[in-house]
Amino acid sequence: MSKRVFITRRIPDIGVDMLKAKGYAADVYPEDRILTHKKLVDILKKGSYDAVLCLLTDAIDAAVFDSAPSVKLYANYASGYDNIDVAEAKRRGITVTNAPADLTSEAVAEHTIALILALAARIVEADEFVRLGKYKGWSPMNFIGTDILGKTLGLIGAGRIGERVAYYSKGLGMKIIYTDVVRNDRIEKEYGAVYRGSVEEVLQAADVISLHVPLLDSTRHLINEARLRLMKPTGFLINTSRGPVVDEKALAEALKEKTIAGAALDVFEFEPKTVPGLAKLDNVILTPHIASASIEARDQMAEIAAQNIIDFFEGGKPRNIVNP
Ligand code: GLV
Repeated sequence: MSKRVFITRRIPDIGVDMLKAKGYAADVYPEDRILTHKKLVDILKKGSYDAVLCLLTDAIDAAVFDSAPSVKLYANYASGYDNIDVAEAKRRGITVTNAPADLTSEAVAEHTIALILALAARIVEADEFVRLGKYKGWSPMNFIGTDILGKTLGLIGAGRIGERVAYYSKGLGMKIIYTDVVRNDRIEKEYGAVYRGSVEEVLQAADVISLHVPLLDSTRHLINEARLRLMKPTGFLINTSRGPVVDEKALAEALKEKTIAGAALDVFEFEPKTVPGLAKLDNVILTPHIASASIEARDQMAEIAAQNIIDFFEGGKPRNIVNP
């Protein structure tokens, strides 16, 4: 019998078409908004699906598993999978896959660089100034920013995305230091990145800190009040990883008090909300979790998620199982 796949929100057609070409019934939730946990449970209870293609906004937990005993695979349309209780899935013999597209790393790295340059050159503040009709003519002291050339980038996490950020940063003439639980020989050899043994050392020495770690118990609030205090007063913090990696309240305070110079966030601790006061500050740039939102990346993510489902049902081993 043909497989039934529930897709929790519209994704690029390429992935849905791949499933349909295999003869699978692919039901896409028709409303283009985040599915509530309750709605997801209700749909799955009624649907007798074989697989779910889910998003990072879907909390996939024991209640979801209970609602859908026929679902043997959750294929996450994201590199991160902190939205899924993978340990519980494993206990129940349910497979979970992610979609770590090369082009996602590329898109996130490019977005990270865009945020660094936008902060340094104060692009967002300046754009608002012009739009508000405040520009009255050239001035020697208007929107003085900082150059990036010769500054030190501190990568916290040097996996696939961190490595691409290192590639671009070297091109911009930055020095690179990094820390991670494992050393990355390639970024040391190719981009001259220097390994530091702790997050603290990176925070103290770098001008721009960029976070590229998954959300785990060990990385929740990795950047907290005490660690923010280690940063240079001229330092910038960039977060394109996961919101809860940063204590956002402590960050808002540091930005308000100008104990650091600026921050750019694509992810928020209590997404989609930001902590009170943060959005009022001039020295922070906020983007709505769009770092991977290039057409190239999103198409590739859809292909990978669909291929994982096809491989699972056609007897092959999906390439991206995260709970083997
Ligand atoms: C996006 O945040 C992803 O994990 O792919």
